[in-house]
Amino acid sequence: MSVAPDGSPVEVYLRLPERGEGDLVAAAVRPPASLLELGSGVGRVTRQLVRLGYDVVAVDESPEMLEHVRDAETVCARIETLDLGRAFDAVLLLSNLFTVEDEQRRLFLETAARHSDLLVVETLPVAWQPPESETLRIDGIEDGVVHGEVFYDGGESHAFAMRVFADEDELVAALADGGWRFDCWIERERGWFRAVPARS
Ligand SMILES: C[S@@+](CC[C@H](N)C(=O)[O-])C[C@H]1O[C@@H](n2cnc3c(N)ncnc32)[C@H](O)[C@@H]1O
Repeated sequence: MSVAPDGSPVEVYLRLPERGEGDLVAAAVRPPASLLELGSGVGRVTRQLVRLGYDVVAVDESPEMLEHVRDAETVCARIETLDLGRAFDAVLLLSNLFTVEDEQRRLFLETAARHSDLLVVETLPVAWQPPESETLRIDGIEDGVVHGEVFYDGGESHAFAMRVFADEDELVAALADGGWRFDCWIERERGWFRAVPARS
């Protein structure tokens, strides 16, 4: 079983269904447009974007994930230090990449700022509470970070630590720390929003 360095099991992401992510991106930036997708995994979202007519560059540190990406340029690299020397219409920071610890999030946001003046983020809804579930074990919540493990049908599991923002002010402050300003919600319940450079 292959697992990416962040603990994401490749097979799980190959099985995971599409959840309308492409349409949420389209609500924020109309196709056709060039997109830099950070942490693309196996291309579950990438393929939705390609179908909608976007030109996508998919970045991931896991070659085992990237080998499944089709119809998009792939770059195997860590997001923190990425500098492709070119600009995109928008950068996507999806899945749980905004809920990482503060220093790593700041580096992710700085990478986004090196590549675009528009950022689309998917994160946990503000004040998210872990649901009671047999497939989720919560070990504790400390300083707004939920620690636990998720269990998948195929027997895989993934330990996680996810920052939950208590309110919008906290989220806006985390964005500002990386040089971005909150613009608007795309989908509040699913935690999707748009951001623009703080200087604009
Ligand atoms: C949870 S998966 C989500 C993949 C995809 N966005 C999806 O929803 O199907 C997160 C992906 O981000 C990648 N990733 C996490 N941290 C990274 C980093 N620092 N640099 C590059 N890739 C990273 C992992 O390898 C993994 O493929």
